[in-house]
Amino acid sequence: MEATPFLAGWIQNQRPRAMSSKNSTVFYRNLEETLDLRRKQRTCYTLKDSPWKYSDAVDFSSNDTLSLNNSGRLRSEFMKELASHPNLPVGSTGSRIMDGNSEYIELVEREISRFHGAESGLIFGSGFEANMAVLAAVPRPGDAIVYDELVHASIHDGMLHSQALTRTPFRHNDPDVFYEVLESVRSSQPLVAQGKRCVIIAVESVYSMDGDICPLRELVTIANDVLPAGNAQFFIDEAHSTGVIGPSGAGLVNELGLEGEIAIRVHTFGKAMGSNGAIVLGNQTLKTAVTNLARPFIYTTAPSFPAIAAIRAAYKLVANEKTNAARAHVQDLVKYFFVKIGRDSIWEDAVARGILSVPLADDWEDAPLHSHIVPIRTRDSYSYYLMFHLQLNKLCVFPVEYPTVPKGQGRVRLAFHADNTKEDVDTLISTICEWAKEMMKIEDDDTAGEKVPSAARLVYTLI
Ligand SMILES: Cc1ncc(COP(=O)(O)O)c(C=O)c1O
Repeated sequence: MEATPFLAGWIQNQRPRAMSSKNSTVFYRNLEETLDLRRKQRTCYTLKDSPWKYSDAVDFSSNDTLSLNNSGRLRSEFMKELASHPNLPVGSTGSRIMDGNSEYIELVEREISRFHGAESGLIFGSGFEANMAVLAAVPRPGDAIVYDELVHASIHDGMLHSQALTRTPFRHNDPDVFYEVLESVRSSQPLVAQGKRCVIIAVESVYSMDGDICPLRELVTIANDVLPAGNAQFFIDEAHSTGVIGPSGAGLVNELGLEGEIAIRVHTFGKAMGSNGAIVLGNQTLKTAVTNLARPFIYTTAPSFPAIAAIRAAYKLVANEKTNAARAHVQDLVKYFFVKIGRDSIWEDAVARGILSVPLADDWEDAPLHSHIVPIRTRDSYSYYLMFHLQLNKLCVFPVEYPTVPKGQGRVRLAFHADNTKEDVDTLISTICEWAKEMMKIEDDDTAGEKVPSAARLVYTLI
C-alpha cells in the first residue's frame, strides 16, 4: 500500500524516546522529554514525503491549489523567466537596505502592486516573516491591536513583539463581537477615542484551518462607524485567497473592491502561487516604515534572483485562461463535495451522532464565495482514525490538532486542487462515509472488545 512508508514513519515517530535516552546528557534528555509529551498525544511532526508525490495517491492536502506545480506549468514559465535574464546573479549579496536591492526585485514589486491595485509593495522571503515584521513594526506606542481569535501563528508572534498598548481578540468572524471589542477599546483608551492613537485590526481573508472567509466589508463598516477619524486601520493576511479568490485570483480585498480601505495586505506565494515568499502591499508611507522599522526585513539577506523569478512566473500565469478555468474548477469541486456528501445514505445519521460534520457544508448555498479548504470534524479522538483510513485508500489528507487549532477542535483538513476530478471527490466522499459507517458499527457493538477501526489497527502494526 502506497501510504504505508508514510504512515510507518509517522507512527514510529510517536514512540516515546526519553527512557531510551537515559544515558544522554541532560541537554538531549530534556529535549526528548519535551518531545515525548507530543508523542503521547500522537502529534509529533514527521518529515516524510506525502504519498501523492511518489504514488498514484490523490492530493487532498497540499497548498498547490491551482496545480501550478503538479501540472509543470510553473516550472516551464520559471525556466523561461530564468532564461530571459542570463546576466542576473543568483544571489542577492546582501540585505535590501545595503547591497541586496536590485532593479529586478523592484520591477517585480511594482508589477505585483499594480496587479492587486496597491500603491506599493515590499517582498519578503516568506509570509511568516512578512506578518511577523509588519505586526511587530507598524503599531506605534499607545496603539491598540484588535484581532480575530483564529489568526495565524505569525501574526501572534508579530503582535507579541510590537509596541502596542493592548492586544484584544474578538470571536472568530463575528461582526457583533468585533463591534463590542472595538467599542470597549475606544471607551477604555482616551487617546484612541480622541483619534490620537490607532487601532490596527488583524484578520485573514480565508482562515487556514477553517476555510471560511472574513466578513471584511461588515468589519470595515463597523470600524468606520466606531472610529470615524480614520484611526482604525486593517491588516489582512491574504495567504489562502491569493490566486484563488477575486478577479484573476487577486484576493478578497480586490473581490470586494476595498483596495482604498485596507492599509496593509500580505499576499503569500507559497500556497496557490506555487513558490514561496510574500509581499506587503500598502501606500508609500507604509512601505518606507516597514523598510526602516521591520527587523526581519532589515537584518536578512534579500531573496535570490531565482526566488523572485519564480514569483514573477506565477504572476504571469495567474490571470491567463487556463488558470481562470482552474480557479473555477476548484470552486465547482468544493460545491460538488458539499452537495454530494449530504446525499450519502449514512450522512444524516453520522452527523446526528457527532461522528461527522462539515461546518462549511451547512449553509454553503448562502455563501457567495468558497475557499478550497474544507475541514471535516469528528470526535476528538477520531481525527487520526479518519486520516489513516483515507491515507490507506490513497487519499492524502492530514489531521490538524492542538496547538494549531484550539484544544478539543481537532479536524481533518481537506484542500481541493485544480488537478482533482469529480471522480476523485466521489471516491473521497464514499471513503469518508465508509469510515463513518465502521465507526458507528463499532460504537453500537457493546460486545466488541476491539474499539479501534481497521485502518488504525493496520497502522499500529507498523510501529
Ligand atoms: C494564514 C497564513 N498566513 C501566513 C502563513 C505563512 O506563510 P509562508 O508559508 O509564506 O511563510 C501561512 C502558512 O502556513 C498561513 O496559513
